[in-house]
Amino acid sequence: MKRIFAVSLSVLALALAGQAVPGDMSVKVRRDLTDADRVRVESVTRPTADFTRTEQFEAMQAGAATSIEDPDRRAFSHVSFNLRPEDEMRFRLGNSLFRKLWVAAPSSTQASDGLGPFYNARSCEDCHKDDGRGHPPEGAADATSMFLRLARGPNSAAEKQALQEHLVVNFPDPVYGRQLQDKAVPGLAAEGQMTIRYETVPFIFPDGSKVDLRKPTYSATDLRYGLLGMDTTVSARVTPAMIGLGLVEAIADDDLKANADPDDRDHDGISGRLQMVTDSKGRLRIGRFGWKAENAAIRDQTAHAFSGDIGISTPDMPDPNGDCTLAETDCLARPNGEQKRLGKGEAPETVVSLVTFYAQHLAPPARRQSGFPDILEGKKLFYQSGCVACHRPKYVTSREWPEPSLRFQLIWPYSDFLLHDMGDGLADSQSVGEASGKEWRTPPLWGIGLTKIVSRLEFFLHDGRARTLEEAILWHGGEATRARANYADLTGDDRQKLIAFLESL
Ligand code: HEC
Ligand code: HEC
Repeated sequence: MKRIFAVSLSVLALALAGQAVPGDMSVKVRRDLTDADRVRVESVTRPTADFTRTEQFEAMQAGAATSIEDPDRRAFSHVSFNLRPEDEMRFRLGNSLFRKLWVAAPSSTQASDGLGPFYNARSCEDCHKDDGRGHPPEGAADATSMFLRLARGPNSAAEKQALQEHLVVNFPDPVYGRQLQDKAVPGLAAEGQMTIRYETVPFIFPDGSKVDLRKPTYSATDLRYGLLGMDTTVSARVTPAMIGLGLVEAIADDDLKANADPDDRDHDGISGRLQMVTDSKGRLRIGRFGWKAENAAIRDQTAHAFSGDIGISTPDMPDPNGDCTLAETDCLARPNGEQKRLGKGEAPETVVSLVTFYAQHLAPPARRQSGFPDILEGKKLFYQSGCVACHRPKYVTSREWPEPSLRFQLIWPYSDFLLHDMGDGLADSQSVGEASGKEWRTPPLWGIGLTKIVSRLEFFLHDGRARTLEEAILWHGGEATRARANYADLTGDDRQKLIAFLESL
């Protein structure tokens, strides 16, 4: 893990003197900063070595955007504290569209129709409940906030090339498309259902104590159009929380490049890699969103969600049939909800941009109890166990970011936003762009301690298999094997302190 603060000033001077080409992946210094700013930024983002007191601004983990409202059920639904008052209306309109329930076409409420024909949920909010994370199904009718992505690798020279050129991240199942939709509009039966089987795997700590982990196996059942393709893989994804996403988008590319160490040149066993994807405007960019970092921009993730999750077309993804494939002729034959007079797409431009704006401005909560002695102890153990090698504590967002409330903020997301091999335990066999089936993007940890309060339930990791923060840590393997071992080697008391630190985020 190469850290930006380790770059010496002479190297900085060299890189600045010259050959830096925009978009050049070898450049690893912040080009949005003046020399004076760069020195300040490096100093405030250097990981601390002093755990006797809180760091300056630490409790305000999203800078001036941090919410200082009560940490209650609505804790993830507050607007960025520093959003200009004249923009709050856009946030509120975006919120109502995020919650809007789409209906099947044709309908008398023409501005809301176009749902499906196949879909997983009728609104963004159905999955991102209270803007918090989702969970694996608790009962048969409860699979909404989690679904199976379907994909296969390339099987021709042309497909290999498209993948190499980052034009696609993988290829859909020939019949079922990119994800299994377990719901459909009236008169059409759903594609199938997600079935999960859990098996208990005990984890024994060096001190003899034991935790039972649950290892899931996923399958697609009740399939309407026959079997999945021979080489189709399934990958389960649970809904992440919506907070702080605009700030993540505003982190400078150069910072993420500086985090990357694909060949593990510093020999710490950790080799974060950048996900590279083509955005909806056709530009090659660093992926940051989703469990595989497969989307570069919140807008792109939004358009994909409208299309794949709800079956609503947008100017960015104009097919009104959503994820129906040519083989699903009964789906293709259904009416759609496009209204020429309202603009292109079942959700026209204004809708997509308002929902995107909403998703960019949900405030992470302020830290709770960040200065308590046990929490500071836990923080020290988090650093000493090597968690910060991937869960990088802090950044200062780009000075050139167009949106003023997100620009030049000191933020503490605890992520490098890179892909890491997390071992066989967490692997599925699905590759997504640069990410193999074993690689996952480090998720941000801010707000994670409020999961239970916001969502009532508490499940972690990409498929919600972990029922506690401790289980999530114990699933870490691959590049994180040493960090997990360091955690397991702690005394029970110290493990509790580290968890208490996570709960204070
Ligand atoms: C069927 C459930 C579902 C619906 C409906 C849904 N999402 Fe999501 N959302 C997810 C899942 C699952 C992920 C993680 C995707 C992945 O890793 O592949 C996600 C990820 C995201 C992310 C990226 C978050 C991050 O931390 O990287 C954003 C932004 C987002 N969704 C916005 C939306 C918006 C806006 C809508 C409505 C248009 C929406 N979602 C509808 C399930 C859903
Ligand atoms: C090699 C990089 C790496 C290291 C080191 C690492 N993590 Fe992680 N962490 C990840 C990745 C990647 C995931 C997501 C894995 C998944 O969802 O399958 C993750 C997930 C988590 C989660 C669950 C987050 C969520 O949103 O569900 C927690 C909690 C967590 N890590 C804590 C820790 C702690 C504590 C340590 C140190 C003992 C640690 N991690 C060390 C990369 C790392």
